[in-house]
Amino acid sequence: MGEFQGQIVAVTGASAGIGEACAAMFARESATVIALDVNEAGLAALAATLKGEGLDITTMRLDISDEACVESVFSAIEKQYGRLDVLVNSAGIISFEKFPEHTQVGWDKVMNVNIRGTYFCSRFAGIMMRRQHGGAIVNISAGAAKTGGMNPSPAYIASKGAINSLTFHFAVQLAKDNVRVNAICPGPIDTSMIEKQAHLPGTHGNGKENIIAAVPLGLGQPDDIAYGVLFLASNRRARYITGEILDINGGLVMD
Ligand SMILES: NC(=O)c1ccc[n+]([C@@H]2O[C@H](COP(=O)([O-])OP(=O)(O)OC[C@H]3O[C@@H](n4cnc5c(N)ncnc54)[C@H](O)[C@@H]3O)[C@@H](O)[C@H]2O)c1
Repeated sequence: MGEFQGQIVAVTGASAGIGEACAAMFARESATVIALDVNEAGLAALAATLKGEGLDITTMRLDISDEACVESVFSAIEKQYGRLDVLVNSAGIISFEKFPEHTQVGWDKVMNVNIRGTYFCSRFAGIMMRRQHGGAIVNISAGAAKTGGMNPSPAYIASKGAINSLTFHFAVQLAKDNVRVNAICPGPIDTSMIEKQAHLPGTHGNGKENIIAAVPLGLGQPDDIAYGVLFLASNRRARYITGEILDINGGLVMD
């Protein structure tokens, strides 16, 4: 029997990368997993793999930047399961426009997903967790929030700094309700997000290699982040940890 047996775990951004690794790891630790993403084909592929292993997974289409959509998905979760033990906010987008070209359109697009979406999901999950007097939220931030970043846009970096602040806020707000709220700042992880940086203008095809070279332990894997997520979500292992921004970054930031 896995550590999360009997727990209902929702993961956003679950059709790819870090979210997918988290959904799979929770399912293999016996959780009932609700995989959420805008990419329904990706969700179907994940569900087929995990159901093939006899694991417990449900998928639902969710656009985290659409408040009405978030409300209807979390209402459906409440109706179907009656509770939510863990929320992992992994859905996010990146952009690479630079200062001073970066303007409102690019800014709003990233902010609408990364910070507004993380807030909406945390809000609805927080309401359920407060009512049931227990739960854990883990936000996926980014090491770039601490370093200033090499390639990402100002909006991406600021959105991740805001996720760290939102983590502190919810940790304070929900502590008396026995809900812990933490975040992870990953270094470069081997997903589509890092692939997109390989051929950025001015990098001569070395955009990806340049980032990896800046990290003492090199490129990380999605499971490296998922291990940290399961640790922070565990009421046994992390019961006295809230408001923590955990670096899992191969030494990119040492503090
Ligand atoms: N890969 C890295 O190097 C790295 C480093 C630091 C932080 N992160 C963060 O990790 C998280 C996961 O990124 P990843 O590397 O797995 O990237 P990814 O692109 O592989 O996965 C992101 C997932 O989010 C989904 N998504 C995008 N917008 C959405 C929306 N509006 N609603 C619901 N789902 C949406 C995508 O469909 C995709 O499945 C992101 O928040 C990212 O900022 C990644």
